[in-house]
Amino acid sequence: MGRVPIVNENYWRVIEAARRDLHHSLVQNNNNSAPILLRLAFHDAVNYDASTGRGGANGSVRFTQELSRPPNKGIENAVRFCEQIKRRHPDITYADLYQLAGIVAVEVTGGPAIDFVPGRADADAPDEDNIPNPRGGSDHLRNVFYRMGLNDKDIVVLSGAHALGGAHKDRSGFEGNFTRNPLKFDNSYFVELLRGDTPGLVKFPTDKALLTDSRFRPFVELYARDQRAFFRDYADSHKKLSELGFNYQGSNMYEDDRCYEEVDQCAKPYGVVNDGRCPGQYGYAQPYSSGNGCCPGYC
Ligand code: HEM
Repeated sequence: MGRVPIVNENYWRVIEAARRDLHHSLVQNNNNSAPILLRLAFHDAVNYDASTGRGGANGSVRFTQELSRPPNKGIENAVRFCEQIKRRHPDITYADLYQLAGIVAVEVTGGPAIDFVPGRADADAPDEDNIPNPRGGSDHLRNVFYRMGLNDKDIVVLSGAHALGGAHKDRSGFEGNFTRNPLKFDNSYFVELLRGDTPGLVKFPTDKALLTDSRFRPFVELYARDQRAFFRDYADSHKKLSELGFNYQGSNMYEDDRCYEEVDQCAKPYGVVNDGRCPGQYGYAQPYSSGNGCCPGYC
């Protein structure tokens, strides 16, 4: 993002409390809801259209008209999970809540920390549909993800989210987990992909397309042999995904006009919570150390 929103201190506290609550609630149910929360974050963001700037991570999947679309089957469970968090932290926007839930889901299952910038305003109507069809090929994947302004690397690395969870006959028509440990976020999706069909594990045509497409495959091979590279690139692409259609308008959660300053002009430690420390993972403060005088992710 060229311009970053600076939320005010009150809203920042709301975010940190919601993050702790999400973390705690997930751990309490043994992380079983982590896969569907990650899928929720994806399905809220996926409808972004880079050419019009419409749609994206704006909370619109909560609307019945969008939620009841067949590819969203199962997401209602994640929306319900988040509704409990929203009841306890009513000031968080749905748009922020769904993206925060996706990021916490990755973290609690062992995946990389993903930078979270709060401040998304909620949409007041459903988005148009841009959800990928699991029976598609590489052209279809490119149509869907290019429309969002994402690239080939984003397509492959984000597909690695299929380390978590699986498919259900009554939702997508497919059945089975993607990997052997569906509650562990690691590079096993890519390892399994290269291994080929395994009884009990499911691979969609869109997953297999990553192997047959000559521009996708090198990324599959890289991430299968190098989990650090996967985590690094995943954290970048997931942040991008979580900020598609980031809408700052119509909200009183922001500090003031400074929030619209250009990143490289900002010299104030926005986002510092106390004692010169920055907000960190799970709400714990981390030492403040940023060359430009700002907390990571803030300016
Ligand atoms: C590349 C195109 C993609 C397609 C075609 C696709 C399609 C699907 C389908 C059909 C399911 C099974 C739903 C069910 O039967 O319960 C699923 C599950 C899942 N998807 Fe994707 N997906 C894609 C990309 C992504 C991305 C980018 C993410 C997250 C960043 C993601 C996260 C998940 C997760 C975590 C599950 C497991 C949900 C559960 O266990 O309940 N997917 N996906």
